[in-house]
Amino acid sequence: MYSQVIEKRAAAVSVVDGDLRLTVDDAVIEIAAVWLRDACTDAVSRDAVSGQRLFNIVDLPADLRVRDAQVHGDRIEIEFAPDGHRSVFELDALLAADAPAPLADSRTEQGKRLWRTAAEVSPLRSHDWAGYLADPATALQDVVKSGFALLRGVPAEPGQVTEVAETFGFVRETNYGRLFDVRVEENAVNLAFTGLAISPHTDNPYRDPVPTLQLLHCLHNASVGGESGLVDGFAAAATLREHDRRAFDVLTGTAVTYRFDAPDAHLSAVAPLIALDQSGRIREIRFNNRSMAVPRLRPDLAREFYRAYRAFAELLFAPEAQLNFHLGAGDCLIFDNTRLLHARTAFAAAGGRHLQGTYADLDGLLSTLQTYQETR
Ligand code: FE2
Repeated sequence: MYSQVIEKRAAAVSVVDGDLRLTVDDAVIEIAAVWLRDACTDAVSRDAVSGQRLFNIVDLPADLRVRDAQVHGDRIEIEFAPDGHRSVFELDALLAADAPAPLADSRTEQGKRLWRTAAEVSPLRSHDWAGYLADPATALQDVVKSGFALLRGVPAEPGQVTEVAETFGFVRETNYGRLFDVRVEENAVNLAFTGLAISPHTDNPYRDPVPTLQLLHCLHNASVGGESGLVDGFAAAATLREHDRRAFDVLTGTAVTYRFDAPDAHLSAVAPLIALDQSGRIREIRFNNRSMAVPRLRPDLAREFYRAYRAFAELLFAPEAQLNFHLGAGDCLIFDNTRLLHARTAFAAAGGRHLQGTYADLDGLLSTLQTYQETR
């Protein structure tokens, strides 16, 4: 709509109370002088190479205003007072400023493929390791859009999982080390290191910031049981929002404490089970029955909280919501730990099941994906 207006070149500008008034056909847009000055891209405002801003807010005159504005074709030249600074703006950039798009936040539900049932992501798509190395974009897009990607044919070598992480980003080292072994251990500090079934959960909700990605690489799996499962927490939260708004509001509005204590580590973080961004979009799930502390709530609020917690858990634990598969030697799962919950069925120690895991972060993955797409 606006582009048609620009083609007509019907723009008129004036200065009203020190701000810019832009009139395009019937539309009147008022743009604050200080916003215009912050948006200046001239040589004294922005570094020519990096594009980074060269001034601080306190460097601008507190009484900054537009002194004059002139239209030159599809550009507008502005002179500021009191310092006489001049800058040129593209008209379409100013028109776009009047109707800003929602902030691009790749962490939120927006633009993602939420899957409410396993059937929606079945049959399970996997990516051959050699093909992934040649062209990682499709698999990395799967992580962004569906929350996970399964690589197959990854060399089943100890330590390989960190090399997978380094194909797109950086290992997030924790008190578990650069990587951790998921196999039966004696006197395990975490139920993950036993043969017990593990219900759907997100990892490490007791960290701040939480690791946003997890990788699990199977070195060996001859055990009976030990199936892996994934559940889309964003999809479950969206369903809760649709069908039980009160429960959704309680979970997004109640911060709880997550704790992990071991002889060498005492970790805690405070966050809601479902975190939203400033626009109300679902942005982060923390769900872990092993590490969520009993919430400190007044009895009436506790009743509401537990009702909401149960309602959310019932969605997450619904059999049709869980995508189940068997990780075999050479399989490596990459998943968004702020969105997907993972689980496993019980297995017998005797059969032998050995996975190695590591953590990484979405920012590195997104950066690699964008760089790859820009240069291919
Ligand atoms: Fe886990």
